Amino acid sequence: MIIAIDGPAGAGKGTIAGYLALKFNFQYLDTGMLYRALAKAVIQANVDPALAPEEVIQIAQSITIEAAQDPDLRGEKVAAMASQVAVIPEARLLLNDLQRKFSHSIAAPYQGAILDGRDIGTVICPEAECKLFITARPEVRTQRRLLETQESSDLLATMSQQIAERDKRDSTRQIAPLTPAVDAIIIDTSDLTIDEACSKAAMYVTKCLSELKKSQKQSINH
Ligand code: DC
Repeated sequence: MIIAIDGPAGAGKGTIAGYLALKFNFQYLDTGMLYRALAKAVIQANVDPALAPEEVIQIAQSITIEAAQDPDLRGEKVAAMASQVAVIPEARLLLNDLQRKFSHSIAAPYQGAILDGRDIGTVICPEAECKLFITARPEVRTQRRLLETQESSDLLATMSQQIAERDKRDSTRQIAPLTPAVDAIIIDTSDLTIDEACSKAAMYVTKCLSELKKSQKQSINH
């Protein structure tokens, strides 16, 4: 089974995906890390994606799935650049390939793949049997990001503006914009604790797993 999780920055996708991966024994890919790895390489090469998108595409060819493991990709500077390189269609196509290969390469002992990002349920894995769209109010997401990046609260206004810019760019880009798939369940985590949000998501995954088993049984019987 494939679980697709989408949503904006700071909504709690990563926390929920990590929890579900452990609870249900799924292999997890945080696809934002691929965009961040590309962004880091673009920053290091001193390339401006608006002026030289073809250089970004060339760099994207060297990104591998292992790049998503780099722990050094969490800062807001890399995040802002990730959102900028993410508007380049050819760069997305290269990263899409890595994500699709991952989603189809899952073997025992895992039950399946779980991917989180912005376009998993709509573009990368439209066939996913279980789709969740995790969201939260912008001010709540900003507070969470401040805590996560351990930035001082003096940066609240700056961080709030950075997140608003990123939301806008991610949701209005022409290719694969951030939007819930029509068959996704929407969970707003603004007023939920981490435990509550994770339990709600887990209940939905349990339902998806039982529906999948039911339909597999029916297709064997027919
Ligand atoms: O999930 P994140 O904050 O680490 O993602 C960083 C940026 O990468 C995000 O602003 C947009 C881009 N991204 C994307 O366009 N598609 C994805 N599937 C994942 C991330």
